[in-house]
Amino acid sequence: MKSRAFSKWIPWVGLITVTLGSHADAWGEEGHQIVGAIAMTRLTPQTRAAIIELLGNDDLAKAGLWADQIRGDSKYDWAKPLHYVNAPRNENSIVLERDCAKGECVVGAITRFLAVATDSTKPIEERREALKFAIHFIGDLHQPLHAGYADDMGGNRIQVIAFGDKKTNLHALWDTVLIYRKSQGDWRGLAKALETDMPAKEVAQWEGNLDPLAWGNESRAITRVIYNELPADAKVGEQYYESNFPTVARRLAAGGVRLAAALNKTFAAYKPAVKNDDRAVSPVRPSTDSPAEKPAQKAAPVSVP
Ligand code: ADE
Ligand code: ZN
Ligand code: ZN
Repeated sequence: MKSRAFSKWIPWVGLITVTLGSHADAWGEEGHQIVGAIAMTRLTPQTRAAIIELLGNDDLAKAGLWADQIRGDSKYDWAKPLHYVNAPRNENSIVLERDCAKGECVVGAITRFLAVATDSTKPIEERREALKFAIHFIGDLHQPLHAGYADDMGGNRIQVIAFGDKKTNLHALWDTVLIYRKSQGDWRGLAKALETDMPAKEVAQWEGNLDPLAWGNESRAITRVIYNELPADAKVGEQYYESNFPTVARRLAAGGVRLAAALNKTFAAYKPAVKNDDRAVSPVRPSTDSPAEKPAQKAAPVSVP
């Protein structure tokens, strides 16, 4: 934002800070935007067309923010437990029957919302919201502390002093503070750097495992290390950042790669609706699959296994 325009916003800055600070419980805005930006570069034309049809655009960085923006709206209180999955401290793995009863956790939510997004029997608004929830929750599940412990609310209750003077908590440290330390606000630049630096071997491993339960268990294993390595005085500085940022980077990259792969899989059988104005969809429709030869068929719900 240019400085003249910016001056108008100064009175709002305090308010925005208070609002964002009141619930430190998702990758912060930068984290979700980075995951979305990485995913956008990896969509098939077919998936992109389906997303544009549902959301009106293919801006996954923006779409990933919606599920946090509606948290203040009591109409969506039911979605609050869907941002995370907790398991008892002495357990290494998530057990769905115990930790995600009736699919009411982030692992269950991802599978369910991806299925709703492609379900042509559902109202379009429900499908649109389901897609935005799925985009957000795939990001959340890659933040290690979203597969944490209930007794401290995924680290939200553990006070931490970061970089000498910043009072925060363990969860927020991993949601936002460590990311911002690197990005300095340039989340697009950080997303590009992560895209460039992704080792092909790791990408293949990430894409080869599209089971949200496995993503949760990866996060869970990292969470255990995070607790083991938290200094007793809860002061984290440059050394903590240097040794932990590579993990943050890998989880953001894995989240972006898996978001794209899950969407590509989910929408693989999806046929965008035939528009009156054919030109709106023609650039992305495979040439061998024109509606004249093959009528658009109903989407089959495809869930991530
Ligand atoms: N609230 C309770 N547990 C949580 C977790 N693991 N992550 C985010 N918010 C939570
Ligand atoms: Zn969230
Ligand atoms: Zn969080």
